[in-house]
Amino acid sequence: MKKRILSGMRPTGPLHIGHLLGALNNWVKLQDEYESFFMVADWHALMSEYQKPDTIQENIKGMVIDWLSCGLDPKKCTIFIQSQVPEHLELAMILSDITPLSWLERCPTYKEQLREMKKRDLTTYGFLGYPVLQAADILLYKADTVPVGEDQVAHLELTREIVRRFNNMYKNILVEPHPLLTKTPRILGLDNRKMSKGYGNYIALSDSEDTIREKIGSMITDPKRVKKTDKGHPETCNVFSYYKIYDLPVTKKLKDQCQNAEVGCTKCKENLAEILIDRLSDIRKKREALLKDKGAVEGMLKDGNRKARQKAYSTIIEVKKAVGMI
Ligand code: TRP
Ligand code: SF4
Repeated sequence: MKKRILSGMRPTGPLHIGHLLGALNNWVKLQDEYESFFMVADWHALMSEYQKPDTIQENIKGMVIDWLSCGLDPKKCTIFIQSQVPEHLELAMILSDITPLSWLERCPTYKEQLREMKKRDLTTYGFLGYPVLQAADILLYKADTVPVGEDQVAHLELTREIVRRFNNMYKNILVEPHPLLTKTPRILGLDNRKMSKGYGNYIALSDSEDTIREKIGSMITDPKRVKKTDKGHPETCNVFSYYKIYDLPVTKKLKDQCQNAEVGCTKCKENLAEILIDRLSDIRKKREALLKDKGAVEGMLKDGNRKARQKAYSTIIEVKKAVGMI
């Protein structure tokens, strides 16, 4: 029997190369080894975007197309939309009854988001319960493994605490999930800040070739290298960290040339743009084909929603029986 994974992303904007390196490439590998569920977390998107939810539907479609373009294969995994499986909300309701407020209030991601997302008012009841809904997402499918980034580990720990509480209080039916951390070097955004939708400092998987050239051209280079004849410091230059994503012969060559002042930063960036364009070209081609075949994507999602719902239904019945609601 294959082990089961579930993971998800919030449809809050276009996917970028950070998602590709940090999650998607890994998901594509995992779908061969695990029984896999990949979920569009649209309720979670609404929690932070409720003041301006008008782009969520568009983002859902874009995200699913990006997933497929990167290599998720509906023959190998189940792709579904959280809000199309109402059992998520039912389980979240039940879990919210047994989750102490203090667990949620002390959750580090909650405190951090309140501090960072100044533009949005996140002091809501729903947002405090973010990890409870996330726990429901995972537990409905009895996933034993959850591929996530470092930032989600606290949520997984909370999920495990909720499971232990539930199993002790009612019946031993929920499964404690383990995080599967993706070990990829985090790359910074184009402006050396954290890569983030909010900053717009990323290469989106849907960016055109010209946009990629333009964005890479705007990257900050080694500030210590003022003139072309100055020697560069590739290890502290963000442009070089992008070269390092791909271990190509040109990576080593460029490092030497930079250190010996044999290449200018403009040329170096032009070169990088062409590498990225080349590496992303398969994704771009698939994306274009999928955009022309909307019906196929919709059919695939219908199928995924149905499969997810089957599994979710059997768990929710068990849970409701355990808590005496049926
Ligand atoms: N909170 C996750 C994120 O922002 C998204 C998510 C929602 C998720 N439900 C999940 C991830 C369940 C893993 C499992 O990245
Ligand atoms: Fe950075 Fe490239 Fe310039 Fe070296 S040549 S400093 S790696 S941009």
